[in-house]
Amino acid sequence: MILNEIVEQYNATLPLERAITPPSAWYTSSDIAKLEQDSVFSDNWLVATRKELLQESGQYVATTVAGQPIVIVRGDTIKGFYNVCQHHAAQVMETGQGCTRALNCPYHGWTYKLDGSLAATPQFEAAEGFDKTNHGLKEVRVEVWQQWVFVCLNNDAPPLSEYLGTLYSQLDPLNLDKMRFHQRISYDLNCNWKVYVDNFLDGGYHVPILHKGLNSALDGKYYKIEVTDKYCLQSCPTKQRDNDFSQVRTGTARYYWQYPNLMINCYDAIMGIIIVEPVAVDKCKIIFEYYFDDNHPLIDEDFKNNSVAVADKIQDEDVAICLSVQQGLASKGYETGRLVPSKEAGEHLFHKLLYKDLKNHL
Ligand code: FES
Ligand SMILES: [Fe+2]
Repeated sequence: MILNEIVEQYNATLPLERAITPPSAWYTSSDIAKLEQDSVFSDNWLVATRKELLQESGQYVATTVAGQPIVIVRGDTIKGFYNVCQHHAAQVMETGQGCTRALNCPYHGWTYKLDGSLAATPQFEAAEGFDKTNHGLKEVRVEVWQQWVFVCLNNDAPPLSEYLGTLYSQLDPLNLDKMRFHQRISYDLNCNWKVYVDNFLDGGYHVPILHKGLNSALDGKYYKIEVTDKYCLQSCPTKQRDNDFSQVRTGTARYYWQYPNLMINCYDAIMGIIIVEPVAVDKCKIIFEYYFDDNHPLIDEDFKNNSVAVADKIQDEDVAICLSVQQGLASKGYETGRLVPSKEAGEHLFHKLLYKDLKNHL
């Protein structure tokens, strides 16, 4: 089947009550995965790193965004570049983070300043018609919001504040600036990245069945789902029980999702973010970052460790089901499914936004 037909198998005009999920081919076709990298992941703002890693001049983070090698550097300001040498395309900075005076290519030693301009080209004197000023690193857009540095590979996309829309101010009252980074853990999953996002956005439908521990700490009858233009907020009060989950999950649970791949989970004194990155059509990487309000009376080392352990248990449960779903999507026994109107409005939004991006790029 040609790509256009696969995209058009989804009907984005149906209301939630009649909506049908995207065809399984969206989760199993490598052509769709490629199209997503070129549209969904290249045209939208994505979290690339934390701003705390870029406080001082010379600090840099070399990473991958939308499958592209990117380096983000603090000079006078924070800037982002394709991490690709303009001589023969070697990766200039090794993946990771650090502090440097200049960006030195490890292949033949071309050197770029922190602002990306080309500073030195050893033994290059005899080259004709070469203007250094035209051979700096290729810049990409970066912007900072809350604790994170976002990257967008599309120069025509709106600025980050516009992109985030209502979410931009929605988090202000939560004062998330007080949260301090604790730990980053990543998981490699054998499923399409959208399986994980769908699972996050099912409005707590799976929680009582799959996450008995978490469910015991939530007052599920007050579970709320709010959907706006590009984000979904699921919220639910917690209830106190005498178990591991209740001890580290208090206050109101707030689960934000921002299209396409960012989730922000908040409880009293806790913030966790999840970033979902496609690796192949049936592989993704899930990055968890844990943050705590160190000044909150609840927070000590035990609390942090228990909190991470509880999240890890929930993640194990989600991982197992996501693998099962991926196998089902790849089988001959499934093509499309339906959405539960009272629960799965977030998934519906996700699918419609995906459709829009995929179609625009065809
Ligand atoms: S590829 Fe970087 S200096 Fe040659
Ligand atoms: Fe889950």
